[in-house]
This record gives sequence, structure tokens and C-alpha cells, in this order.
Amino acid sequence: MRREWTSRFNRWRYDLYAPLYDKLAQGFAAQRRRSLGLLNPQPHERVLLIAAGTGLDLDFLVRCRHVSAIDIAPAMLRQLSERAERLGMAVRAEVMDGQKLEFPDESFDAVVLHLALAVIPDPLACIREVERVLKPGGRVAVFDKFLADRQRAPLWRRAGNLLARVVATDINRRLGDIVAVTKLQRIHDEDAGLGGFLHIALLRK
Ligand SMILES: C[S@@+](CC[C@H](N)C(=O)[O-])C[C@H]1O[C@@H](n2cnc3c(N)ncnc32)[C@H](O)[C@@H]1O
Repeated sequence: MRREWTSRFNRWRYDLYAPLYDKLAQGFAAQRRRSLGLLNPQPHERVLLIAAGTGLDLDFLVRCRHVSAIDIAPAMLRQLSERAERLGMAVRAEVMDGQKLEFPDESFDAVVLHLALAVIPDPLACIREVERVLKPGGRVAVFDKFLADRQRAPLWRRAGNLLARVVATDINRRLGDIVAVTKLQRIHDEDAGLGGFLHIALLRK
């Protein structure tokens, strides 16, 4: 029930942010390039963007011929579709909940979770779904804000999270706790800026 309410809230607030989103998130181009470089999707592979937003990642995926993108907010996806058209990409964009994917098992070679696991209300449900839809050997690119694996959130982060969660995103999740509910292997993890606040990781099924 709480998860459904939060998903509806996410749809509402990200529909509201859609016209401004590119201006706010364009500063992460270097991290997107790095993360998608590690993922290294091949042109023939099937790639899924979860919580794809306005499609800022598409600029780095133009060689990929089979890209699907899902998001809970229709206004974000409308911008994604316009971007895909400008880039000459045929992207299958669908409004869908990242906690309950409507794709068959083992249908993707690669999944992109950029600024997604800290926003989706139940990141454990999302990562379980990612594991389900990935083919054996499939890879996942993660870029987000995380605490270090055994780090306890300092007071400023706990206080800041009261506002951050309402406005945009949870800043106190741990990638290790999320991945631990699956058999996905974390094969790479690096500091991606802001003094270790941002991380880039690569997972493999
Ligand atoms: C911070 S934005 C990230 C967008 C994009 N991945 C990027 O890197 O710019 C978070 C996105 O998560 C989406 N979102 C929130 N809850 C979701 C859910 N339950 N299922 C799918 N998308 C969701 C929002 O609509 C928003 O587009």
C-alpha cells in the first residue's frame, strides 16, 4: 500500500519536474559515459533502461539497435521519445513500474539503473526484477548516491534525507544491501564524485 502511494507520488512529482529535468541532471554526463562504457553494450544486444527519465543516457547508446525504456512518469518518457527521434533511435518506451516489470524472464543482455535505485520506493523489488529479466551473464550498470557498504549515515545525511526523500531521492541507501537480495555479482564499484557520495558499479548475473 505504502509502495503504491509512493509510486503514485513519484509519477506526480517527476511529471512536474520533466520540463526542468535535463537542466538539473545534465551535469552527470561524465558519469553516464563512464558507467555505460563499463557496461559496453553491443549493437545487437537488448538493453533495458529502468526509470529512464528523459533519456539522457541515450546519447551514449546510439549504436544500440534494441533499446527499451520504462518509467513511471509519462511526461519524462515523452521527452525521452523526442530525444530518441532526434538521435534517430528506435526506442520502445513504456510507462511501467520498475518494481514489477512486464517483460519475460531472461529477455535482456544489459540493464541500466542510473539514478534509479535511490528513487524507486522499493529498490529490493526492483533489483529482483532486474535479476529476473536479465539473461545469464547479463550486466547491470548502476550510477547513484549510496552510503558505503558498512557505513552508518552521519547525522547530516539522516537530517538531509527527510527533505531529499520528499523532493527527489533517498540519499541513505547501501548498494550492498540491495544487491544482497539477489545472486547478482558486483564486479566493479568506484567513487563517482562528490567525495564518495556518488558511485558507479557494474553487476553481473
Ligand atoms: C532521478 S530520475 C533518473 C532518470 C534517468 N535514469 C537519469 O539518469 O537521468 C528518477 C526517475 O525514476 C522514475 N521512477 C520513480 N519511481 C519509479 C518506479 N516505481 N518505476 C519506474 N520509474 C520510477 C521517475 O519518474 C524519474 O524519471
